[in-house]
Amino acid sequence: MQKRVLSGIRATGRLHLGNYLGAVKGMLALQDDPIYETFYMVADLHTITTPYNIEELRKNRREVILDYLAAGLDPEKSVIFQQSEISEHSELAFLLSSVTTIAKMQHLPTFKEKVKQYPQHATMALLNYPVLMAADILMYKAEAVPVGIDQEPHLEVARAIARRMNQDYGTNFPEPKSFQTKGSYVPSLTGEGKMSKSVEGSFINLTDDLETIKLKVAKIPTDSGKAPANVDPDSRIEGPMFGILPFVELFQGKEKADEYRRQYVSTGIKYGELKSELAEAIFGELAAFQGKRLELENNPEYVDRVIKEGAEKARKAASKTIIEVRQKMGLA
Ligand code: TRP
Repeated sequence: MQKRVLSGIRATGRLHLGNYLGAVKGMLALQDDPIYETFYMVADLHTITTPYNIEELRKNRREVILDYLAAGLDPEKSVIFQQSEISEHSELAFLLSSVTTIAKMQHLPTFKEKVKQYPQHATMALLNYPVLMAADILMYKAEAVPVGIDQEPHLEVARAIARRMNQDYGTNFPEPKSFQTKGSYVPSLTGEGKMSKSVEGSFINLTDDLETIKLKVAKIPTDSGKAPANVDPDSRIEGPMFGILPFVELFQGKEKADEYRRQYVSTGIKYGELKSELAEAIFGELAAFQGKRLELENNPEYVDRVIKEGAEKARKAASKTIIEVRQKMGLA
């Protein structure tokens, strides 16, 4: 039997390089592996757990679908859908909230961070964020979840809920595991933390042109380009080089990065050249995506059809689970 996979990205805007390498690449790998049946959604309900703009959300829940398709998600191979279209997600989240304590949700680092960021918006929806995510995953009885490493605490919640449900109500939810691809951690261009939509100057958009990418790469902080004389060439190089080497490794390969490591402790590095080559390499990877994106923008009927058919397929799978859970919980 095929194993189920589910993943989603919040509808906060167009995808950036961090989403692409952190989640979408994993989604693609699993879609193309015949042992998996893949469900990929836009988490538009999760988007309303923090302050948002109505018109932007309306736009973005579709933009993410276009980005998915342009990146290579294939509606013939994957079920591609918008979360809110399947009202079963909200219903299952409520049912699952009955086996989830408030204390546990309040202690999650993601919750605390958001409350700090938006002190006026410590809402029930925000507290319930991980439960809704568990509902997304358990709805399809997914075993693998391609997501960035930062989502691990949420997967832990999903596993705990699956166990409780199976124990208390005799359901058969598998305990979902995250699926990580190489490069699933993409650092910020600022040299601090991870690439994130919410940190200005930290990200490259998938739709950025070569000029823009060059400008952004030029801003990655660097040092003088040469290690101090007393550095042991075999020791790990600390400092500013590390802001840029992960990108070299991701887009130009490990060998290239190792070459730079050697240069750093011998002749020294000219960052101007390094950065310009790196920008070209990043753009090279994005060019195919951008071509496809443009085609899709000019074919709205096709996108409409993908969304409609995706919803139908997702709803069919979701209603099975909901009927089963209602039954087992005494609601039918
Ligand atoms: N919380 C995820 C993120 O911020 C988005 C998400 C919502 C998700 N539901 C999901 C990811 C279900 C995987 C599975 O990246």
